[in-house]
Amino acid sequence: MIEKDVLKALNTQVNAELLSGYMYVSAASFLDDENYSGMAAWLFNHGHEEYSHAMRIRNFISDKDERVVFYALDNPDAGWKNPADVWQKIYDHELEVTDMILDIVRLAREKGDITTEIFLNWFVKEQVEEEQVTRDIRDRVVMIGDDVGALLTYDRWLADKVEKGIEDTAKLAAE
Ligand SMILES: [Fe+2]
Repeated sequence: MIEKDVLKALNTQVNAELLSGYMYVSAASFLDDENYSGMAAWLFNHGHEEYSHAMRIRNFISDKDERVVFYALDNPDAGWKNPADVWQKIYDHELEVTDMILDIVRLAREKGDITTEIFLNWFVKEQVEEEQVTRDIRDRVVMIGDDVGALLTYDRWLADKVEKGIEDTAKLAAE
């Protein structure tokens, strides 16, 4: 059993994680069409990761003998304009997800639900990484500005990162 308000918040988070994945795939598709295939590959990969986050919460709810309700997701198209616009929106979205997770932690704490609070520790730590990687890419794309040649070089660099399976951009920079 999970306390009803905590259960409702966890259920909302399952759908929010699915929407994150849907949004990443939408952004990836836009960038792929604009020939930024490295950025697109990174985002397509990350879309899968968001799906796994949704499943992680779904499994927890199910393990606690409760049911998840799936509902229609919002439109994932954020009106993508260019790479800088995409990465700003993706980073902003990650900040919102962090707030959502922390709100559930506070709620679980308020309700005395230690199990859910401990379960969410993984997500709290994960969001530190999610913010770092998306901020890192956003910063570099903003630094490059309108230099298409430099943007394509960076895009190729990101493609290498995806091929090597490296999620953390700082790790590749340190190689
Ligand atoms: Fe997530």
